[in-house]
Parts: sequence; structure tokens; C-alpha cells
Amino acid sequence: MSIATDPVPVIAIDGPTASGKGTVAQRVAADLGWHYLDSGALYRLTALLALRRALSLTDEASLSALALTLPVRFSGARIELDGEDVSDAIRSEAVGEAASKIAVLSGVRSGLLDRQRACRRAPGLVADGRDMASVVFPDAPFKLFLTASAGARAERRYKQLIEKGFSVNFDSLLRDLLERDARDASRALAPLVAATDAVVIDSSALSIDQTVAQVLAQWHDRAGG
Ligand code: DC
Repeated sequence: MSIATDPVPVIAIDGPTASGKGTVAQRVAADLGWHYLDSGALYRLTALLALRRALSLTDEASLSALALTLPVRFSGARIELDGEDVSDAIRSEAVGEAASKIAVLSGVRSGLLDRQRACRRAPGLVADGRDMASVVFPDAPFKLFLTASAGARAERRYKQLIEKGFSVNFDSLLRDLLERDARDASRALAPLVAATDAVVIDSSALSIDQTVAQVLAQWHDRAGG
């Protein structure tokens, strides 16, 4: 094995909305000293820009062009769109909902593909989303499907949104989450499903620390230490 020709390793973490995959992926990346890709943020950024420009969420040509030319900059936890800090704005339910709608369009998905693959840089990448294992990094040496019950996920999302100062209603949040799950799982393109070679972890009864520890232990097992 030659280090010079070995592909940069990727840990692909897919899962439904609010499964904790973002937090887990960031912690795993920090522990390994690897890069981190929040692919959902790219769909959310495209959606935010589309909403601001009052584009129809079915206008595939305009939305695909937006996805291709997204003026985004990631610096640590800060996400900038055209120089403006939109890290919190992209987390609103309205933007998440719009992101899920535009994510069904093949032009949007292909417009974001190169940008996601360009994040694969040494020493490694932890990438989270819906199709990291199936489409974006099909050769990832470790594929993980992180899930949790709808109730546990709705509770986590509720706490996150309250902490960010959004006003939310738990019941409508749970309903939206179930709707979004159905849309993400039933779409024709890159639907949310566990890859056949993915390890499935249900984190309903696990803390973030326990989940991170499980992921790291499994990675170190595979990587041989
Ligand atoms: O992970 P998230 O909630 O930030 O993602 C927002 C939406 O973006 C989600 O409902 C579906 C879409 N998405 C996708 O289709 N593929 C990805 N790799 C990531 C997100």
C-alpha cells in the first residue's frame, strides 16, 4: 500500500433530520483531526437564497444555477453567504422545509456534487447528509447510518431551536419532521436509505458522547488501531 496513492479516507454519516448526525460528525472529525462536510448546509443555503430571491421552489433551471454558483464560505462554525453570517438563519424550520423541497431536483443535486467532493482533502473527511454513502462518496471506507425515533429527534430539534431563539411548537415540529422524513425517503433521486454496507446506529437511547465513542471505536477497529 502506498500512502501517496491511497485515496483520502471518508467517514460517511447519513441519517434522517435531527438524528444528531451533524453533532456526531463534527465531534468525530475534531477527534481525528479531519475535515468536516455538512452537506445539508449546502441544500439549506441554496434554499435560503431561493427564498430571498422569491424563486419558485420548483424552478429547476434557476435553482440549479444557484446551487452551482453558491457564494458560500465556511470558516469553522461560521457559514457566510456573500459575506453575511447566515449560520443561524439557515437552521430555521422554513429554510429546512424549503431545502427538503429543492433537494428532489436533479439539477440542484448535481450542481452541489463537485463542491461536496472537493471537501475530500487529507488527512480525511467526515461527511454528513442523506446520500454521502450512496452517491457522493460511494467508495468511503466507513459508512454509517445514524438514526433515532421520531419522538427523540423532535425533542432534540425542539431544544436546538429554542436555544437559537426561534419560537416553536412541539406538535407542529413533530408533524413537519415526519413529513420531511417521508419526502426525503420517498424521492426518486438519492433517497434517504441506509446503504447496504452501512453500519446502523440507533441513538434514541444514547447520549452524544456514547454515540461518538461508538463511531470512533468502530473506525479504529477498521483502520487497525
Ligand atoms: O441535514 P439537514 O436537515 O440540514 O438537511 C436539510 C435538507 O437537505 C433535508 O431535508 C434534505 C436535504 N439534503 C439532501 O437531500 N441531501 C443531503 N446530502 C443533505 C441534505
